[in-house]
Amino acid sequence: MIMAGTYVVTGSASGMGRAIVTRLQSEGKRVITVDLHDADVVADLSTVQGRTEASRKVLVLSGGLLEGAVMAAGLGPRPGKEFVRLIAQVNYFGVVELLNAWHDALAAGKAKVVVIGSNSTTATPLVPRTAVRAFLHGDARTAIGAVRIFGKAAPSMIYAASKIAVTRWVRRSATAARWVDEGIRMNVLAPGAIMTPLLEKQLSTPEERRNIEAFPLPVRHYGTAEGIAAWVTMMLSHEADFMCGSVVFVDGGSDAYLRPDAWPKQVPGIQLLGYMRKMKAWGERGKLR
Ligand code: NAI
Repeated sequence: MIMAGTYVVTGSASGMGRAIVTRLQSEGKRVITVDLHDADVVADLSTVQGRTEASRKVLVLSGGLLEGAVMAAGLGPRPGKEFVRLIAQVNYFGVVELLNAWHDALAAGKAKVVVIGSNSTTATPLVPRTAVRAFLHGDARTAIGAVRIFGKAAPSMIYAASKIAVTRWVRRSATAARWVDEGIRMNVLAPGAIMTPLLEKQLSTPEERRNIEAFPLPVRHYGTAEGIAAWVTMMLSHEADFMCGSVVFVDGGSDAYLRPDAWPKQVPGIQLLGYMRKMKAWGERGKLR
């Protein structure tokens, strides 16, 4: 049976994911929830098997039609070697593999997709390019290997690399014919410090607390999961039809404070050739509807 108006939310059992589910349900939407526990689809997105199962079960439950997807499952940069692998697997592959598997259902529903990124993408220095590139090539081993030299900071590095990569994947895919021509709209919401169990866990260790409190937050208070849910709901609505490949920062001003002039930026000379190639390719592909 085809069900109209079905949404899927990963990371639905806590924090932003949970707030997004509550908000969608209060608007009368049907939501399929995905998480490690307390969800319609209980799955471990850190493993290939868990991701395959989650993809399949959601397709069955949705009847092959999704009007929206919110990818909020993720781990923060927690200390410990084991977290490097988990962060890489959940934050990047737990988004990209699922969205690829759901492509046809998203096309059937002309879906809006919101991926939860992070302002760590623009605020973390020294993130190795190799790690970002490796993610985009689907190579977790190389991505993890590239941050090993950072020792105790490796979880923060893989976290930022996974979020940069997933954000780039969205920006590249959002305008590709496979997605945009099917009516799918993909965008990223990049939060700053939001008071959720993830942040609470980080604040509970003195060293991490010091780091978080030292991080510039111009508005001088943490964000709320409900506030983020309101932004995400807007990005899932019909009004967001014209939004495609955008990255919306909702971060209390951290990104603007640290790197106000980093973007928007004029096209650098060195990129002119690639830019011209894309203009030409558009001439062959593009017709307004
Ligand atoms: P949270 O910890 O409250 O919720 C994350 C959810 O993801 C949890 O329900 C958890 O069970 C689920 N999850 C974790 N590993 C999983 C796995 N292997 N398989 C299935 N589900 C799994 O965290 P929060 O704060 O709501 O985070 C949501 C997203 O926002 C994450 O991607 C996080 O990286 C991102 N983010 C959070 C910020 C913050 O300050 N809270 C800042 C910037 C980005």
